[in-house]
Amino acid sequence: MNMLTDPELAADAAPLNRRAGPALLRVEHLSREFGGVLAIGDLSFTVAAGDIHSIIGPNGAGKTTLFNLVTGVYKPSGGRVLFDGADVSGQAPYRLAARGMSRTFQNLQIFFNMTALENVMVGRHLHLDTRLLPALFRFPSLKRRDSEARDRAAELMGAVGLSKYLDADAASMPYGALKRLEIARALAAEPKLLLLDEPAAGLNATESREIDEVIKTVAADGVTIVLVEHDMKMVMGISHRITALNHGRKLAEGTPAEVAANPEVVAAYLGAAP
Ligand SMILES: Nc1ncnc2c1ncn2[C@@H]1O[C@H](COP(=O)(O)OP(=O)(O)O)[C@@H](O)[C@H]1O
Ligand SMILES: [Mg+2]
Repeated sequence: MNMLTDPELAADAAPLNRRAGPALLRVEHLSREFGGVLAIGDLSFTVAAGDIHSIIGPNGAGKTTLFNLVTGVYKPSGGRVLFDGADVSGQAPYRLAARGMSRTFQNLQIFFNMTALENVMVGRHLHLDTRLLPALFRFPSLKRRDSEARDRAAELMGAVGLSKYLDADAASMPYGALKRLEIARALAAEPKLLLLDEPAAGLNATESREIDEVIKTVAADGVTIVLVEHDMKMVMGISHRITALNHGRKLAEGTPAEVAANPEVVAAYLGAAP
């Protein structure tokens, strides 16, 4: 079933009469090409502080590339990224983390040789160059001294419903728990902006609803969220605003109800169906 055409979803949508906060993230005329192929083309949009702002679009639309541009993994071919009032285009990921940007990955990026708790503790150091992190955590003295970080990490694991995995080896945890572990680790950096790339991918309906709750709780705590997700029930239910992409360009933008009713958005999704 195409979720965009499900009339029940509009009823789920977040309230419309909400005053938008000031811009926390602003993308201006952003472009990126790979070998002459445009992955993101002249894309502009603004994420208001306090919002859950979703980016939707068929596979290959450029969503992950957009995350990689915003978080400094890729340099733009053109345009710029403004975060918290500063032009941060092309800054390295760890510098952006230090400014308050944190993310999760479409493909899990868990340290499988560490415990769950250690994975979250590492998140506190995301402002450091990530290549150094595994080495850093081999020093037992540092681990012991960091009891405050340990308490905070345990608290965050509780917040995402992972209390029973505190001492578990990451490698022994089920996939659904690892998706939540990534969110806890991203939160350990105390971000202003959290970018989530398909947090419900591969989860069953019950697990997806649990992720809904986690995201809503995080947003209620004042963290602005940019969400990439194919689960339209989730997107329509929790987003304040949605930007729809197709072939790297903006197709539509608005409230969930506006975007769900946009014929071009529906056509892009129906066109992408097998
Ligand atoms: N590192 C890369 N090298 C070459 N092409 C890439 C690279 N990253 C993304 N692309 C291309 O950019 C387009 C958008 O991909 P992606 O951002 O992963 O889309 P989405 O996340 O929306 O599915 C695709 O055509 C993809 O093949
Ligand atoms: Mg992607």
